[in-house]
Amino acid sequence: MPQSVLPVREIAHQFCCIACGKVAAHPAKSFRCSSCGDLLEISYPGWSTDQGLRPSGLNVASLKALWRTRRKSQLAIDQSGVWRFRELLPAFPDASKVITLREGSTPIYELRRCAAIAGIDTLLAKHQGMNPTGSFKDTGMTLAASVARAQGFMWVGCASTGNTSASMAAYAAYGGMRSLVLIPEGKVSWGKLSQALDYGALTCQLETDFDGCLRVLNEVVQRMPVYLLNSVNPYRIEGQKTTAIELLEQLDWQVPDHIIVPGGNLGNSSALGKAFVELRELGFIENLPRISIVQAEGANALVRTMRETGGKRLIAVHAETAASAIRIGNPASWKKAVRVLEQTSGTVEEVSETEIAVAKAEIGSDGIGCEPASAVSLAGLKKFVKTGFVKPSDTVILILTGHVLKDPEYTLKFHRGELFPTSDTDILHSQQRAPTVLEASANAVISELKKAESAKS
Ligand code: F0G
Repeated sequence: MPQSVLPVREIAHQFCCIACGKVAAHPAKSFRCSSCGDLLEISYPGWSTDQGLRPSGLNVASLKALWRTRRKSQLAIDQSGVWRFRELLPAFPDASKVITLREGSTPIYELRRCAAIAGIDTLLAKHQGMNPTGSFKDTGMTLAASVARAQGFMWVGCASTGNTSASMAAYAAYGGMRSLVLIPEGKVSWGKLSQALDYGALTCQLETDFDGCLRVLNEVVQRMPVYLLNSVNPYRIEGQKTTAIELLEQLDWQVPDHIIVPGGNLGNSSALGKAFVELRELGFIENLPRISIVQAEGANALVRTMRETGGKRLIAVHAETAASAIRIGNPASWKKAVRVLEQTSGTVEEVSETEIAVAKAEIGSDGIGCEPASAVSLAGLKKFVKTGFVKPSDTVILILTGHVLKDPEYTLKFHRGELFPTSDTDILHSQQRAPTVLEASANAVISELKKAESAKS
């Protein structure tokens, strides 16, 4: 029988450069390799290779049982869908110092209408928008913000298209730190901007894009004691790995055929890929899902990088898309994402603005909803089914990255026909559901009801 309670092991971790392989015990403030300047990732030399990689002393069955047991615990770190899996994360010295808003533990929903539209038997969506601040960012933020506080930082900072800043501001405030947010002026949805303000961030709207904000932030953290919380911080990636662990647990450790994820700065796809590869090395699973990354046509740096250079050289683009979360032209984690595509035999796809908007409304019509950037996953899936990359009987998981209430302005504009004022396509009309203004009488409402009923039949 697996033990129900096992001691938490201290598993040492180190920082390894993804390009030159240089190993460091402590990262630089920029989280860049001190030799070649490329990104770092966390590795665990304590995972012995004797009988397959394993955190020493713990086996697969006992870990699965331990993680299940923790769901019944009243401890904050057990209730967190991130810290519940702490054996596969960097050891954190003092559990009482963890900053957690009980992130993770997000649902998997079945999207029935969307499955039929895409032409597959079953479609599942893991809704990361159901996190405390409404996006997947919380799963990485709990870990990286906790590290910042443990290291004595009073200030944390990020450049953001909106969700990272909302998440960081919340975790900083909850943990008693202050936060500095750099966002592109006029390009962040009001929902996200209002979160950062409410959580008390010092919010600077810069006259540049996301990539420009990240450049400025890098200089600020060199000159001021501000801890960098963008996804170049490898602790963010480690926290975001837990989405994959939780997903597999929810699927009873059956590996899906496909995982489809939106791509922006490419931290999330990198985290998911790292998790699945580690879980295979640790013996939790035998094969990997194909992880595919979908971008907006106007912000398609990875798609072009794969198609034009085979993933060898980044093709940065000037990004433009109404899915503002992924309006990124120079993705920091592109090399990590290329590696995930190669390791998992996934692919890339780009989708148009109208394809994104229609897919978002379709996810809404299943009663689920998501923000625009998340909907690229469904728009991409439709193309994958058409090309035969996804078969109708395949198990497919869309990662919905943000909540539908993150960008209500986009949603209203779409349904009112204001998002694409010059387009007049049937497919747009079929999904547009503008509110109707009527006189205040039952007759007027009943007449609308009858019209709607006959339009459906
Ligand atoms: N979906 C949403 C809702 C996002 O907010 C982001 C990124 C992505 C997808 C792309 O994820 O960058 O890991 O490839 N948002 C960042 C931010 C950039 O600042 O909130 P990625």
